[in-house]
Amino acid sequence: MSPQPSTPPRHIAIVMDGNGRWAKARHRPRSFGHNAGRKAVREVVEGCLRQGVETLTLFAFSSENWQRPQDEVGALMTLFMHALDKEVDELHDQGARLRFVGDLGAFDTPLHKRMVAAMTRTVGNDKLHLNIAVNYGGRWDIVQAARKAAEAVVLGQLRVEDINEQQLDHGMCLAELPPLDLFIRTGGECRVSNFLLWQLAYAELYFTETLWPDFDQASLQLAIEDYARRERRYGRVSEQAARPGLT
Ligand code: FPP
Repeated sequence: MSPQPSTPPRHIAIVMDGNGRWAKARHRPRSFGHNAGRKAVREVVEGCLRQGVETLTLFAFSSENWQRPQDEVGALMTLFMHALDKEVDELHDQGARLRFVGDLGAFDTPLHKRMVAAMTRTVGNDKLHLNIAVNYGGRWDIVQAARKAAEAVVLGQLRVEDINEQQLDHGMCLAELPPLDLFIRTGGECRVSNFLLWQLAYAELYFTETLWPDFDQASLQLAIEDYARRERRYGRVSEQAARPGLT
């Protein structure tokens, strides 16, 4: 179970929303906002490294985002390519381990190859686990974990009665990483949009009006301070939450 919030969150996940509105306010195309969003990614990575957050999971492209206008999808793919070419060296030097989580088979070969190369290169790092969710959906994540369990049953490696939460958890994209402590969504909408549905079970939720390109280390600090004021009870009463040994 995660520690009480007097310690920084071990795992933060962010829905980076508001790039389009940020660009529109400046009479620029949506891709301009996505480019500006890249700087905010750098800010939160720096912030997490400074604050000792172990894992950061960012929602960069949902399974539903393919339905956006073709030029916007193309601009996002180009942006991911450039970001991979430009940022991986520094992330590696900073000790970040990069993982792309989601159905990666949908990306074209050059992008897919760069993702795999970045993951392979940084595999030995452990200062920050940086997960970028691309072509990801929370329901997809649960379905593929269920499929893995079903396959193991068919192969005779698993008994149906041994399928439980812990076993299914092993099949999820973020298995082996710390449980999700803090979910942040920028851009003013108060919904989770099919992100990390399974992992959100006991996460603290934080919604801010700040548009993603404006989200910086100070904004992250505010979210962490808000989290620090929460009482995480996991279904117990206050007195038990304050003293975990108490029955
Ligand atoms: C949602 O804002 C944002 C996205 C769909 C793309 C997120 C991508 C980035 C922040 C680019 C940098 C990322 C990496 C990993 C290099 P929106 O377009 O829905 O904004 P709106 O709600 O204002 O229209």
